[in-house]
Amino acid sequence: MKRFLLLAIWTILADFSEAISLWDSTGPYHVGYIQQVLNHTTPNDPTTPGDILLLTIYYPTPQIPNTTVPYVDPITAKLAEETFGLSKGSMSTLTTRLQFEAPTLLGTRPEFGNGTSPYPTIIFLPGLGLPCVGYTAIQSELASYGYNVVSIDHPGEAPFIQLPYGGRGIPGSLNESAPEVPRAVYDYRVSDVLAVMSEPFLPSLIRTYGIPINTTHFGIFGHSIGGAGAAGVMAANDTKIASLFKVGGNMDGTFIQYLNDSTPVTDLDRPFMELAGEQHFYGSESSSDSDPTWKYFNNGQSGWRRSFQVNGTMHLDFSDIPLWVERLGQEGTLGAQLGKADGVRTTYIVASILRKLFGFVEGRRLDRVDRYAEKVPELFVLSENRRI
Ligand SMILES: *[C@@H]1O[C@H](CO)[C@@H](O)[C@H](O)[C@H]1NC(C)=O
Ligand SMILES: *[C@@H]1O[C@H](CO)[C@@H](O)[C@H](O)[C@H]1NC(C)=O
Ligand SMILES: *[C@@H]1O[C@H](CO)[C@@H](O)[C@H](O)[C@H]1NC(C)=O
Ligand SMILES: *[C@@H]1O[C@H](CO)[C@@H](O)[C@H](O)[C@H]1NC(C)=O
Ligand SMILES: *[C@@H]1O[C@H](CO)[C@@H](O)[C@H](O)[C@H]1NC(C)=O
Ligand SMILES: *[C@@H]1O[C@H](CO)[C@@H](O)[C@H](O)[C@H]1NC(C)=O
Ligand SMILES: *[C@@H]1O[C@H](CO)[C@@H](O)[C@H](O)[C@H]1NC(C)=O
Ligand SMILES: *[C@@H]1O[C@H](CO)[C@@H](O)[C@H](O)[C@H]1NC(C)=O
Repeated sequence: MKRFLLLAIWTILADFSEAISLWDSTGPYHVGYIQQVLNHTTPNDPTTPGDILLLTIYYPTPQIPNTTVPYVDPITAKLAEETFGLSKGSMSTLTTRLQFEAPTLLGTRPEFGNGTSPYPTIIFLPGLGLPCVGYTAIQSELASYGYNVVSIDHPGEAPFIQLPYGGRGIPGSLNESAPEVPRAVYDYRVSDVLAVMSEPFLPSLIRTYGIPINTTHFGIFGHSIGGAGAAGVMAANDTKIASLFKVGGNMDGTFIQYLNDSTPVTDLDRPFMELAGEQHFYGSESSSDSDPTWKYFNNGQSGWRRSFQVNGTMHLDFSDIPLWVERLGQEGTLGAQLGKADGVRTTYIVASILRKLFGFVEGRRLDRVDRYAEKVPELFVLSENRRI
């Protein structure tokens, strides 16, 4: 009862506060989104309930937004404030211009059809314990350039997930200090994608609504354990699905699948890009604090590969979190987890280089990635594999 009273007070406060936009996307399209709950049971799931997934699809829309919406639900806002030491009520002042169920690009050009789009479909996987909504800026930025971004939440993992259409709220149930948990989360990152890509989920959703989403050409990227998961999906035994992924990316994630260096590395033989925070000189063979799993994974790749350090960033800079603290004027609250880089600029750089990477799937040249990196002083090449 007390909790609901408090929430009601915050809602009132928020109504009197100025709304602050989390991110204004820079592409030619506006951004719509839909959400769908999928019934899928994960074996040996360390979370509860373990029998559903939540898909969020961010997509380009021609419709101009006429209002703003809260960035996150009130419970997630409160939990984020508590977890990250942000002032009470501040998170609920953050807004977006995302449009729920806005019209798609279907029929606006002949190539936007039921199940077709010239842009690859991008699957996004979050870091351990973060909801996908915590990466709204990068995902909506990509959607504003034409990409459909499908992100997968595993309800029960993040501190709170609000199901759509007035559904229930699901509290987090993951014991992050249990030693077996990270590997279990990695395993279901991979198995969740393989499930979503199969009937009766994403393919059936696209058919039912006639969504103009590319069903043959996919890219995948993720943050932290989600970045490890992106490589895991591309390497999966289910070659029919794995081969739909033409490129992948890992934002600052340890390849947990290769912590044991007796595990043979799968050569993905497709373009793969890694973005590293400054914490570790990942991949630089000489540095004692570099992440050995990057070196191990990278040495096993024969395709085009780039590892860039994004100077001035730490692990959480690859999420919306630096935008929260900057937009809310609460810099310094997260100390060591955020770097000194400007959050708006980092978000723009990360989304831009990902766009150059995904452009490869549309037939553009991968040297656009290098040309972009050469222009941006914060992007520093750690290691590379130049074969195309
Ligand atoms: C998913 O499971 C819920 C609860 O068991 C059920 O009410 C719902 O109809 C199921 N949805 C589908 C599409 O099977
Ligand atoms: C805003 O746009 C939506 C969707 O087109 C429409 O239903 C609604 O009436 C509009 N509201 C205003 C105030 O124009
Ligand atoms: C997916 O995108 C690729 C690259 O632009 C294109 O060649 C292909 O026809 C598209 N597929 C569908 C089903 O739209
Ligand atoms: C979480 O895991 C740790 C390590 O295994 C254990 O000591 C602790 O009791 C667990 N907590 C709960 C609430 O299960
Ligand atoms: C989309 O195309 C599929 C065939 O590929 C068809 O079964 C389905 O009815 C179409 N959906 C819509 C909404 O037109
Ligand atoms: C591939 O299959 C083997 C044997 O079933 C299994 O041990 C391995 O974990 C699988 N790899 C992936 C990436 O699913
Ligand atoms: C690493 O993998 C090898 C081969 O599968 C196995 O024998 C060994 O026990 C593993 N080591 C650890 C620390 O898990
Ligand atoms: C980025 O970091 C690398 C490695 O520490 C350094 O060589 C380079 O000068 C840095 N670039 C900028 C713009 O700070």
